[in-house]
Amino acid sequence: MTALKILRYPHKDLRKTALEVSSFDEKLAQTIQDMVTKMYLVRGWGLAATQIGILSRFFVMDISSEQNQPLCCVNPQIIASEGQIESEEDCLSLPGLYLTIVRAKQITLQYQDVNGNQHTQTFEGLSACCIQHEIDHLNGKLIIDHLSNLKRTRLMKKYEKMKMQSHCGDSACGHDHSHDHMHDHDHHSHVS
Ligand code: NI
Repeated sequence: MTALKILRYPHKDLRKTALEVSSFDEKLAQTIQDMVTKMYLVRGWGLAATQIGILSRFFVMDISSEQNQPLCCVNPQIIASEGQIESEEDCLSLPGLYLTIVRAKQITLQYQDVNGNQHTQTFEGLSACCIQHEIDHLNGKLIIDHLSNLKRTRLMKKYEKMKMQSHCGDSACGHDHSHDHMHDHDHHSHVS
């Protein structure tokens, strides 16, 4: 497999809107397979193509505890949403940052699989939040964009200071980065 590198804030590609996928070829299948492998390697719950610098509309996701139920959604579109839920999230592109944001509690998603077949499926709770997080990525949106301007400016100042003080910028380096975490609440879970 090719070595995928996850882009990190403030990489400018994370702010771009991804384009619709039109060819369901071998290259797409291979990329999706590589992304699933990478997602498991870094113990994420989801990974959007945007995060590896591919500006196409697809993401992979797996919230199962055994990490053996990968879902891949190409050209995902939320066609209905209902309710609200507080979602505790982090992001592989913003390592060390944990936020509580409000998302729709239930969504109906229309998407294509790796072969281009159409699906419509309803998701709720954690899976619904994870999907909304990944679709945000495809639209150039990050978890920090769910905060007010004032709160975001303050938080990112602290975040950048924390990153500068951190002895290395790569959480995959094997060192203990547990002291490098920032929370806007007391507990957290891992989204992507
Ligand atoms: Ni993310």
